[in-house]
Amino acid sequence: MKALPSIIALSLAMAFSAHASELPVIEANLTSPPLVPPPLERDHPAKVVVKMETVEKVMEIADGVEYMFWTFGGTVPGQFLRIREGDEVEFHLSNHPSSKMPHNIDLHAVNGPGGGAAASFTAPGHTSIFNFKALHPGLYVYHCATAPVGMHIANGMYGLVLVEPEGGLPPVDREYYVMQGDFYTQGAYGERGFQPFDMDKAIKEQADYVLFNGSVGALNGDKALTADVGETVRLYVGNGGPNLASSFHVIGEIFDKVNIEAGTAVNNNVQTTLIPAGGAVAAEFKVDVPGNYIMVDHSIFRAFNKGALGMITVEGEEDKTIYSGKVAENVYLPEGSAVQSISSPQPERKRAANKEEQMLYGKRVYEANCQACHQGSGEGIPGAFPPLAKSDFLNEDPIRAIDVVIHGLKGPIKVNGQSFDSIMPAMQLPDEEVANVLTYVLNSWENKGGTVSIEQVTERRADGETIIMDGSVH
Ligand code: CU
Repeated sequence: MKALPSIIALSLAMAFSAHASELPVIEANLTSPPLVPPPLERDHPAKVVVKMETVEKVMEIADGVEYMFWTFGGTVPGQFLRIREGDEVEFHLSNHPSSKMPHNIDLHAVNGPGGGAAASFTAPGHTSIFNFKALHPGLYVYHCATAPVGMHIANGMYGLVLVEPEGGLPPVDREYYVMQGDFYTQGAYGERGFQPFDMDKAIKEQADYVLFNGSVGALNGDKALTADVGETVRLYVGNGGPNLASSFHVIGEIFDKVNIEAGTAVNNNVQTTLIPAGGAVAAEFKVDVPGNYIMVDHSIFRAFNKGALGMITVEGEEDKTIYSGKVAENVYLPEGSAVQSISSPQPERKRAANKEEQMLYGKRVYEANCQACHQGSGEGIPGAFPPLAKSDFLNEDPIRAIDVVIHGLKGPIKVNGQSFDSIMPAMQLPDEEVANVLTYVLNSWENKGGTVSIEQVTERRADGETIIMDGSVH
């Protein structure tokens, strides 16, 4: 047993003597998103050996939609590298033998031509090694820079390197890794099946997907980031692009501190921070009250229609002095009216000659009048607007549905087991449009079918009145 310490001493000596700088040798601890390696807590530089692998693999970009991603380390974004100012990095880039393409890496943390791109150009089944010294602290993007560069980046080849300053960063309770990217697929957003890359859309900068961490829902539901009330959170947020700048915002939070463009300048009390393509920010905030906080690109169609939406779930004690939640909801009835009417003047239009034309015209009525609340999918919004898709309430009594559209509805109802208590205004639509839109709805989204005629609507208009529900229908 006496030999053991001397063996360790010998191997340490070899490690030191192998490098002129005589720095201790450490293998980098790389993490996959959204995780970040722990703070280094070193008071000296080191020789850091980084072993990263490029892998081309099919993964889901959205539910039921597959895409051939090109990755650093098998994830989008690639693995997070954490080093210290003054570290000497020995970077090993391996390209998996199953790859179809050569790849390389341009690290924005490198001072040197191409950020290491030419030195790291690697054919499938090979490994390249190069060295660099981390001269500047900061948070840096890395990406593949093999031609066509835009395509390699668009396929997900980017990630972040954090270079801690001497002395480290101020401690926080939680650190997470989020990276935005825009994606271009031959099918439209959500079109199922395997979707190849679309170079034409990429050149025109017409993104089908704008995503945090490489897929729709990558940071939602049980994959949401988490924190407890009172904790401080630091987000390392990068933007891989290839094309779009990000207006990064957390709904319901204010960033106490933002390292602008991930540099040394600090801004305080920031609502939305701009992250250029090929750039990053470190954003910190303390969470004060529990709930779900939604990360978005505040170029807001990207969030709600292209996927740029993630979640931070915060648990802990409420503080009603900071946020009360809804304390009252009263019906607002100006000038003493009952249910409000929404008027919708319509030009004269050709009457539908058959059910197919009713469906066609009804769809237009739906899009103009109903879709904003009940959604294009007919799914509604939980807690606010009931679903029309597969709706038991609708299918049970289509005549009642006529009354709802022309006279409005208020009071609690249950639809498909979910409770709702909002107000549906009486729609000021001509009888024919009511007939068409209800025919459209009855024959969409797995509802039971059938038609509603103009005569039925006219009859209900004469007889009916506002429906007041008491929640006991089901
Ligand atoms: Cu590449």
